Amino acid sequence: FNVPEAKNEPVKSYAPGSPERAEVKKMLEELRSQEIELPMVIGGKDVYTDRKVRMAPPHDLKHTLGHYNQGDSSHVEMAIDAALEAREEWANMSWQHRASIFLKAADLISGPYRARINAATMLGQSKNVYQAEIEAACELSDFLRFGVKAMTDIYKMQPSSVRGVWNYNEFRPLEGFIFALTPFNFTAIAGNLPAAPAMMGNVVVWKPSKTAVYSAGVVMEVFREAGVPDGVINLVYASGPVVADVVLTHSDFAGIHFTGSTEVFQGIWKTIGDNIYKYKTYPRIVGETGGKDYIFADNTVKTPELVTAMIRGAYEYQGQKCSAASRVYIPKSIWPDVKKKLGEDLKTVKMGPSEDFTNFVNAVIDEASFDKLKGYIDRARDDNDAEVLFGGKCDKSEGYFIEPTVIQAKKPDYVTMREELFGPVLTIYVYEDDKMDETLDILDKTSMYGLTGAIFSQNRYNIEKMTKRLTNTAGNFYINDKPTGAIVGQQPFGGARGSGTNDKAGTLFNLLRWTSIRSIKESL
Ligand code: SER
Repeated sequence: FNVPEAKNEPVKSYAPGSPERAEVKKMLEELRSQEIELPMVIGGKDVYTDRKVRMAPPHDLKHTLGHYNQGDSSHVEMAIDAALEAREEWANMSWQHRASIFLKAADLISGPYRARINAATMLGQSKNVYQAEIEAACELSDFLRFGVKAMTDIYKMQPSSVRGVWNYNEFRPLEGFIFALTPFNFTAIAGNLPAAPAMMGNVVVWKPSKTAVYSAGVVMEVFREAGVPDGVINLVYASGPVVADVVLTHSDFAGIHFTGSTEVFQGIWKTIGDNIYKYKTYPRIVGETGGKDYIFADNTVKTPELVTAMIRGAYEYQGQKCSAASRVYIPKSIWPDVKKKLGEDLKTVKMGPSEDFTNFVNAVIDEASFDKLKGYIDRARDDNDAEVLFGGKCDKSEGYFIEPTVIQAKKPDYVTMREELFGPVLTIYVYEDDKMDETLDILDKTSMYGLTGAIFSQNRYNIEKMTKRLTNTAGNFYINDKPTGAIVGQQPFGGARGSGTNDKAGTLFNLLRWTSIRSIKESL
């Protein structure tokens, strides 16, 4: 069959009085009223252990959502065995059947599971309904639908033949299993990282972030209901080092699909290097890591648009997007105007639990993140090179709340202009209007990461200059828009430098990493 043309799932508004708002509220109540127990899923079986780990909403630490069953290295081994057992049949299943499964998963997520996947993301990861909707419901459906479309485009890529010689590409999955190590900040990414290799006929061991197990359980339920066969995707909850130890030293390890920190990714890469002689095949290494994403403005910008981009880019989902704006460069001549508007607009930003739909900012993910962010804010307060301009309050009595914070750095290489904070803290550097070129050079030099960046200008010469000068600083580059919110099929997402392998999630470029082509020649 021809797969349907891939279209972005329309984002629902959740406006007061809308049916989707009523539905998600009911679901939140339902999930709150029960304590669930989440098993691991290995070889299609629910696996329980005697180590139960409590799950609580980051914004309401006293409430218990339920428990998950923590595994150990023996469960990781079981998951690998189950994957390898399922491999041959799955690899030989026709692409039409694989397509049907993942298209069905997309339809379940955007249909009957929509309220559940959003509510689980809101409770487990402290994400408000608008932020949950754009990714858990919509982006994950998009990843699956655009992925299936890209898969069929790949299978159509065939070499030419001549009279008496017939050539074709056979797109085989990799020989072994793929390890999907997924982050807390996007349910969509957590679902896509095991789905993409599986779509291409691979079998997967999936370890989600320990702070996003609650929604990962729902995603796994969808995969099972959609018909992913037993053993094709195996979900294990065990500590990162325990899983990595078993997976990365296994002779059948064939690749990793990763989103997380730069430090962890580099550690994994090194371990793969150390074990290279053990593997049957060179493992594919695909990863998206950190960012120190920027906004650079010149003096022709429109203040309201710039300030909205700063607030949305820096504080949506508490700045915990790898794409979040975390440093801004503003020319001195417009700074008083921008500062005034920023202060006024920040007063209207409400913070609190994600279940109250009026809260724009919710809690950060866990105590380690809270403490780290508080440390940077306290340091900026005490430092001569920085000043906390707005916000800065931190309170973990009920949940991990960090007020949207603005730091002004007196030096362009101040620590919060360079290091990834992963929270609602934005640092601003004000540059002299006649030093734009030097400031662009500094931006480039202080960009160890290269994920996203945005420039703001109404001057076409400046737009061109900045676009060229900043070539290597961002895999996703925005002109007059915030650096977050890439849409599948429209702005393929991924960055270079310290930010990852830039394989562009949800596209043909990414899926090509999960296949090993046999080129077949037949002669007369
Ligand atoms: N794709 C997300 C964004 O663009 C980040 O992972 O915001």
